Amino acid sequence: MKKLYAVLGDPIGHSMSPMMHNDLFSFYQMDAYYFPFQVKSDDLEDAVKGLKALGVAGFNVTVPHKSSIIPFLDEVDDLALRIGAVNTVVREGKKLKGYNTDGPGFLQGLQHDIPSLSEEKVLIIGAGGAARAIYFTIAKNKPLKVDIANRTVDRAIKLVEDCPFQVSSRAISLEEAELILNEYSLIIQTTMIGMAPKVSEKPLGLTNLNKQAMVCDIIYNPLETQFLHVAKQIGAKIQNGLDMFVYQGALAFEKWTGIFPDIERMKKNVLQQLG
Ligand code: ATR
Repeated sequence: MKKLYAVLGDPIGHSMSPMMHNDLFSFYQMDAYYFPFQVKSDDLEDAVKGLKALGVAGFNVTVPHKSSIIPFLDEVDDLALRIGAVNTVVREGKKLKGYNTDGPGFLQGLQHDIPSLSEEKVLIIGAGGAARAIYFTIAKNKPLKVDIANRTVDRAIKLVEDCPFQVSSRAISLEEAELILNEYSLIIQTTMIGMAPKVSEKPLGLTNLNKQAMVCDIIYNPLETQFLHVAKQIGAKIQNGLDMFVYQGALAFEKWTGIFPDIERMKKNVLQQLG
């Protein structure tokens, strides 16, 4: 019988996940289909119950449901619970179990350039949901330090206080981060600043960037934000948001099927969708 996979979000029309996963199902000759469902927040509990009753094999969860879905699942993996957000649900026997592959997906995207974080001094820009998933995943992997820079410093302080893993961390302003930027070997931009259509914006100036640093942006539209463009001009290595998006999907696909999929194929598919 054909297996059902899905993504729940609102809005959901622009999601690139259905084409990416359906391409993988046909490539690996699996009798499965991945369907996008637009679900209003008030209907989320019913939607989860309905999918469970219909025998869904697994699904993704996206904005705005990543946190609010947690009470409606039978089990939640420890890291996802600590992050407070689930983006991947797997049917395990009769139960629906939630995982977070956003943070681990980001980290796996980095592994080619940075196989171990143990020597890294990390700066995360932003203190929203994406920063939280990346921060906790990175902190778990024992870097030398991870500082959080945010426009609203109180939100960064809260994030540092919430971190369940022991790591040297400071909450700082964007202005301070700009001044001490040369201290960091890995810089991760997690805000929406620089996303289309406001492509000329960047969260902070890069004058003090260390040329040896690696600079990442989780935005993939445009593929090269102004922030990455300037970092590249200075001589730093850069990574755009395509890797995180593709790897979070690859880790979800692996949880559902046991197969770690062809990353290059996934990237090609997403690049085609981006046009
Ligand atoms: P997400 O869950 O997608 O990460 P979010 O929770 O809304 O989104 O967080 C957005 C992040 O972008 C925050 O760090 C936010 O800073 P504040 O906490 O000060 O709001 C940051 N951000 C958004 N627009 C910004 C801007 N114009 N300048 C600086 N930071 C901005």
